Amino acid sequence: MEEKRTGCSNQEWLDGVYDKLLVKMKAECERIGTMIPYTTGKDGKYHDIEEGPWGIGFWTNGFWPGMLWQMYEATGDEEYRKAAVGVEERLDVLLRSPETVDHDAGFLFLLSSVANYRKTGDKDARRRGLMAASTLSARYNLDGRFIRAWNDEMAKMTEHFGGGDIRGWMIIDCMMNIPLLYWASEETKDPRFRKIAVNHAKTAQQYITRPDGSCNHIVAFDPDSGAYLNNPGGQGYESGSSWSRGQSWAVYGFALSYRHTGDETFLDTAKRCAHYCIANLAVNDWLPLVDFRAPAEPVKYDSTAAMCIACGLLEIAEHVSEHEKRFYIKAAYRILRACDAKFANWDPETDSIMTGGTFFYHDPTGENTEVPIIYADYYLIEAILRLKGKALFEW
Ligand code: GLY
Repeated sequence: MEEKRTGCSNQEWLDGVYDKLLVKMKAECERIGTMIPYTTGKDGKYHDIEEGPWGIGFWTNGFWPGMLWQMYEATGDEEYRKAAVGVEERLDVLLRSPETVDHDAGFLFLLSSVANYRKTGDKDARRRGLMAASTLSARYNLDGRFIRAWNDEMAKMTEHFGGGDIRGWMIIDCMMNIPLLYWASEETKDPRFRKIAVNHAKTAQQYITRPDGSCNHIVAFDPDSGAYLNNPGGQGYESGSSWSRGQSWAVYGFALSYRHTGDETFLDTAKRCAHYCIANLAVNDWLPLVDFRAPAEPVKYDSTAAMCIACGLLEIAEHVSEHEKRFYIKAAYRILRACDAKFANWDPETDSIMTGGTFFYHDPTGENTEVPIIYADYYLIEAILRLKGKALFEW
């Protein structure tokens, strides 16, 4: 069937992109090394994060080492390991100034230190991972039973989506950070970290996901009493809409909470969010709009959401029956192949693979709309390597 539609089978497509990935990443690793890339500049090249406005604490700074660890797992090439360790050493400064870290400690340290520890057993990497888990745990709001999003400095930036007092905010994105806490409990046999993660996930289930599988980006609680207040709009079109990257965090994040806890309600939530995403992608040639409930025009895509949804589907596929598995894997292939055809750049002489990434819907400059974004490449690589049976589990 897939062969009829596109001229090659899924296996042939996978083998082809894997070969291109080996060439592209080898060249990128030689060029980029311990630089920390986010997006390409006007010159089409990656620049170090510390040259731009975002700085060393930016939430995406773990994705490059995460990619390098994936490639090290797949190939055993020492150059990937050395570059990943070099980036991890640069991130160490964050643990000595924890006010620069927020709920995204998971993205930063799961994909650098914890990946290193999982692969090599390095003691410093373990120490960094556990320090990051402690920093993340300290953000737990006891009465609201959630991990606080962002720090006060973000209030200014969040004004365009209803900012102001953000002390009582939780966001769907954090479902991808709490695996750091599951890891810390698995590692230390101390249940405290896991309990915080489970409570946070239960609160997200109650207040973020909706019955049809769509979800909010943000929930605002009273920071003192923990009482529910409202749902500010966030990075999607508006409050009540459906930001596709938020949807992707829900699909993959709840599937991961199931993996780490065995709580069937998390798997059910992941599947519900996955089915909603699949339905919305299927009616749009498997291409990801920035928001599934934005007006029909202008059309804005976000490849990052699609890549993360694909990984979430592959994670769900690991926890369901053989018959069900086919559905999730087939949908993942559809998404990956559609985005490969529309957004991928496999030229090894140029930086980044996936174009078409969008940071948030209402981007006033357009500079962060449909551009290469590092985490689209991370999730693309993870998905390809999962399908090849060569991925490192980093969550
Ligand atoms: N976690 C921030 C974002 O998805 O843009």
